[in-house]
Formats: sequence, C-alpha cells, structure tokens
Amino acid sequence: MKIIDGKKVSIEVLDEIKSSVDNRVKNNLKIPHLAAILVGNDGPSKTYVNSKIKACERVGFKSSLFKYSDSISENDLIDEIQKINNNDDIDGFIVQLPLPKDINQEKILSQVDPYKDVDGFHPINYGKMALGIDTFLPATPAGIIELIERSKIQTAGKKCLVIGRSQIVGRPISILLSQNKIFGNATVTVAHSRTSNLEELCLESDLIISAIGKPEFIKGDMVKKGSTIIDVGITRVDDSSSHKGYRIAGDVDFNSVSSRVGFITPVPGGVGPMTIAMLLKNTLKACSLSD
Ligand code: GUN
Repeated sequence: MKIIDGKKVSIEVLDEIKSSVDNRVKNNLKIPHLAAILVGNDGPSKTYVNSKIKACERVGFKSSLFKYSDSISENDLIDEIQKINNNDDIDGFIVQLPLPKDINQEKILSQVDPYKDVDGFHPINYGKMALGIDTFLPATPAGIIELIERSKIQTAGKKCLVIGRSQIVGRPISILLSQNKIFGNATVTVAHSRTSNLEELCLESDLIISAIGKPEFIKGDMVKKGSTIIDVGITRVDDSSSHKGYRIAGDVDFNSVSSRVGFITPVPGGVGPMTIAMLLKNTLKACSLSD
C-alpha cells in the first residue's frame, strides 16, 4: 500500500507557482492577486479561506478577503461582486461556499466574471469543462487529477466509482475522468443517495473517489484488493481528546481500508491541500491570460 501524500505534492505545485511568480517579478509583470468573499460565520469556511490566503503569501501572490454578515441581501452581494469584477488589480476571486440559505447560490455564482472565475463554477466555465475546452477547472477535481497524474496511477479502461454527485466535486470529477484525456478514459459510475447497490459497486471498482461527507463510511470489506482510494471527505467529528474539541475525519475508515488497497489518500493531508494549490494555479493562469 502506498499513501498518496497530498501535502508533499501540494508543496511541489506551490513551489512551481512561486518560481513562476518570481519570474514574473523579474520581468516586471503583474503580481497575481486572488480575492475571496466570505459570507457569514461558518467555522470550516473561515478555516478554508484563511488557508487560501496563507497559501497566497507563500507563493508571493497578493490576496484580499471580503467578509460580509450572513444578513447581507442578494442584491448587495451582487453589487460587491460587480465591484471585484471591475477591479483591475484582482485577477481571480472565489465566493466561499456554502452561502447562507437565503442566498441563491446559482444566481450569485453566475455574476462572477468568467475570466476571474478561478473556482470554475460559472456556467460558462463549467460548460467548457464538460465539453473538454481549456478553462479553469474546479480546484478539488483538478487536485485529484494532479494527484493521480503525479502518482502515475493509470485510469484508462479502469472501473472508477465516484460517490457523491455534488457540483463542486462528484459531478465534475466524474466528467473529467470519463473524457478522452491521458488521465481520463475511465469507465465511470456515479453513486449517490439513491444508489441501491453501493457495496457491490465499491467491490468491483479499480478507483473509488468518495465525496459524501460521511465519516469513515467506507470499510475495508467494501473495497477491491489493490484498488486506489481517493478520500475527499472532510468532516469535523467531536473529539474531547483534541484541544480543539474535534478532529477531521474522511469518508474512508483508513485503518481497515489501507491494508487492502494499492494507493490511498489520507485525511487530513490528501486531497485538501491540493485544492488550495490548484486554486492558486488557476489564479496564476487568470493573471497570465491578462498579460
Ligand atoms: N466550499 C467547499 N469547497 C469549495 C471550493 O472548492 N470553492 C469554494 N468557493 N467553496 C468551497
């Protein structure tokens, strides 16, 4: 069994981004600038946004954080987005999800300038992704592909099971892995809350990508020997032995699964750090496109 070290791979990607930024500075080109919009007080969202801002510092990007109360109206939020769209210094920005319940996520995401949409969630960019046209790929699926690629895991002709059909992870990774690309060409099945034979599907899969947010749901007796397991789950679970009062758990029961499989991503330290690295890669791309 080999652990896919997402932390290590993300540092490689961040170092590559940093050297591109250093080259831009040498050539008097613009320094990439990422902005994030955070609405409300969701604890995990605050943590993720802070990690994104910290990563910007590491690679030499400028960053801005725009925070709003969860009582902001949809129209006021749209006005704020328009201001960022029109701010020439900002190359790319994200609206951290989830948004408060009263705000229509679809409406908000479609207000982001597609050229600054480094999350790849605008319908134009999502459509391009589905068509296989070069665009900003959503960061988590892009991070998964990068991990597969750098770990030299073959996907062509393999049976791949994606568990979860979210717009952020499950749906886009299922599209990308089925495309006719080097790290695609898999035979992809998407399982979701209405799937009736999940255990059977898991047992026959060469590659499982789980993004359902159910802590330690996938057990050792559910996976095929020698298969690859990518765990996208990040759930806070109460833990009185931790000073924070919680620990982070993946969808996969690492102890029982890891001894049976060929490759596995840990949680934390697997897909999570890659998401941030790929967001910064998209921001560098947005900046370079406007040179
Ligand atoms: N919330 C969970 N994952 C993501 C992500 O990739 N982008 C944004 N904007 N919000 C998220």
